[in-house]
Amino acid sequence: MARLVIVSNRVAIPEDGGKAVAAGGLAVAVKEAFTAYEGLWFGWSGNITEEPSEEPTLIDRGRVQYAVVDLSPQDHLEYYAGFANRALWPIMHYRLGLGAFSRSDYAGYSRVNRTFARALAKLVEPDDIIWVHDYHLLPLAAELRGLGLDNPIGYFHHIPWPAADVFNSLPASTELLRAIVDYDLIGLQTEADVQNLQRNLVDTQRAIPLGGGSLMVDGRRTRIRAFPIGIDVAGFKEAADKANANKVVRETIAGLRTRKLLIGVDRLDYSKGVSERMEAVESFFASNPDQRGNVTYIQITPKSRSEVPEYEQLARDVNEKVGEINGSLGDPAWTPIQYITKAYPRPVLAGLYRAARVGLVTPMRDGMNLVAKEYVVAQSEDDPGVLVLSKFAGSARQMPEALLINPYDRFEVAEAIRSALYMPKAERLARWKPMVERMTREDVDWWARNFLSELENFRTMEREPPTA
Ligand code: F6P
Repeated sequence: MARLVIVSNRVAIPEDGGKAVAAGGLAVAVKEAFTAYEGLWFGWSGNITEEPSEEPTLIDRGRVQYAVVDLSPQDHLEYYAGFANRALWPIMHYRLGLGAFSRSDYAGYSRVNRTFARALAKLVEPDDIIWVHDYHLLPLAAELRGLGLDNPIGYFHHIPWPAADVFNSLPASTELLRAIVDYDLIGLQTEADVQNLQRNLVDTQRAIPLGGGSLMVDGRRTRIRAFPIGIDVAGFKEAADKANANKVVRETIAGLRTRKLLIGVDRLDYSKGVSERMEAVESFFASNPDQRGNVTYIQITPKSRSEVPEYEQLARDVNEKVGEINGSLGDPAWTPIQYITKAYPRPVLAGLYRAARVGLVTPMRDGMNLVAKEYVVAQSEDDPGVLVLSKFAGSARQMPEALLINPYDRFEVAEAIRSALYMPKAERLARWKPMVERMTREDVDWWARNFLSELENFRTMEREPPTA
């Protein structure tokens, strides 16, 4: 049986003897992929050390072996904090003004991809299929091919793929587009992302469309298709059903008394629109003064990428905004926004989602946004809440029944909050049912199976020369 080799920047290694893995989207997705395969998960150890060894540390956990390497301070600065998160991330999220390109960062990004490829190539066997994740590793397949690897290699891009003019403003865009076609299968979140990348390859790399998402570029065949990522629906639903057993959930609900709850849960990232959302909530209270004291907004926002200057600035901006709004609108008996920068485990989040009448998921741009899906799945048929969702999140394509809004328009978001709070139960149910059914069909298992069976097919179908 073929082994599956997963490669990603971060690796979630379960504790020895324990079942637990981190609850993040990537960790859950990879765990699902390994249910059908034995294999290896390769990536960064999360450690920064002077002069790290190129030899990965190997850790065995049953069917899955983990192979991790450290980064040097310079690698971390240039590859992760620099090119991946100050150039690629803002460009992929349509935020050209926040992009900072430097040649040394790009050199560091290319160097780490080369180092990863060298370390990985020694561990790969001829029958393995390789699945690479995330924008940190766009050139990895090209590096592996350069070392002579002929295995099927797939890539899944968890974030948006922007329109050609936006992507091509990145000084390294041509090299990256050339490198990416060394993947046999490229998975993107939405059809719009697929169109963006395909058109770019046709216009700038003379790619020839072959139908069914396949393209021929410089004699190499690649396939680009949408695989919208799903969540662990059964696990999330179970966590929401049992959430009352959790002390944090119980105490939060008790503290609300009769107030209705609005909830937002996001990593502290400018793509998530946390600051803009707070302004929308402020507008809601300004135009609905009778709701002051009757509604509480809890925003859970674990800090993220604090080594990147734009994220440090964002942390200061959001703190200032929360202070301003609470100071001007609140009173001794009511704080409009409860802003928390700690991360919470699934049982707490699932319980808070269920308790919230409104889920606010209003990113300025997002590849998919799994919080939107988690919020919907955590609701119960007895009294489902309402999802207010940015039309610029990939998940909006699968959830047209949500209240879709433009996050750049604080007044539109404020009106959606009002509609959500006043929405009769029959309408809430009618909107929620088709969404939860779709999420259940298109869960993380469906996503991983689809991607991997297509990559497996590639080995048998796409590589064989057409028969006469
Ligand atoms: O959404 C893209 C992504 O890389 C995820 O895979 C990851 O969980 C998240 O961003 C967090 O990023 P970081 O590894 O920089 O903390």
